[in-house]
Amino acid sequence: MSKLLYLNGEYIAEDQARVSVMDRGFLFGDGVYEVIPAYAGLPFRLEEHLQRLNQSLAAIHMASPLDNAQWSEILHRLLQQRGSEDQQIYLQITRGAYGKRLHAIPEEVQPTIMAMASPINRRDPQLVKQGMSVITLEDIRWQRCDIKAITLLANILAQNQAREEGAHEAILVRDGLANEGTASNLFMVRDGLIITPPKSTHLLPGITRDLVLELAADAGLPYAEASISVEELENADELWITSSTKEVMPVTCLNGKPVANGHPGPMWEKMDALYSACKERLRLRTQAGNHCHE
Ligand code: PDD
Repeated sequence: MSKLLYLNGEYIAEDQARVSVMDRGFLFGDGVYEVIPAYAGLPFRLEEHLQRLNQSLAAIHMASPLDNAQWSEILHRLLQQRGSEDQQIYLQITRGAYGKRLHAIPEEVQPTIMAMASPINRRDPQLVKQGMSVITLEDIRWQRCDIKAITLLANILAQNQAREEGAHEAILVRDGLANEGTASNLFMVRDGLIITPPKSTHLLPGITRDLVLELAADAGLPYAEASISVEELENADELWITSSTKEVMPVTCLNGKPVANGHPGPMWEKMDALYSACKERLRLRTQAGNHCHE
């Protein structure tokens, strides 16, 4: 039987769910989204994801259609369908369907709200062991990359170019500075210091990024939020990329050349272990870690 997804207040079989071709998400990409991992049936860092969702909505002049308790109820109901399996939730809110195609934001329009749960795209253990390969590309996206907008054409083209060149991800560069990946944040290790670019309108404020910084602080690992030039990338001791689905992945190849000795580094090993422990605490439903609450 087809799984149920949430659409505008109803739970509908995935293959039966329908939205209007007049939906502004379809016509304009006028909407925002979130991807939330869930372990043992519990959403990971839910509050942080919902806070970022509300920030994205505010930035595109939309009111939050649901409160956190309503979201939580919907997500738990969707997750229940696969029991305690690890899953990922995709949720999307568009400005909704209006009678005609109109660039200006209509006053009277009901948002389209959709959420669905699916098995998490597991990290390939072989890739974790060998590390990812990335290329640098000019960032051709807009000036509000802090909004988690569904409009992802520039990210798609960059990811596609990376794949065509035999790499897994592209690091996007603007004015000589490396900001983030097409669907991930960027970290560098240099002389024992963990560095990630500061939050700005040029990158998405990643939930995993913030957690990595919190875990570093808790473990007493030195870190800094500082811009990273392409030259610094080339001379890094370690590079990582992070996201809710990739977690913390080592990068061992940059533009066809090895990063340091070409193997995942010791700082990555430490951070990956801290991250796994954090997930495990959620899985065991203990209150041990205050960063790992639902
Ligand atoms: N993408 N930067 C971009 C451009 C992203 O699309 C993502 C995540 C991140 C990492 O954010 P987080 O740690 O909150 O997942 C950074 C999701 C996973 C996606 O689009 O599928």
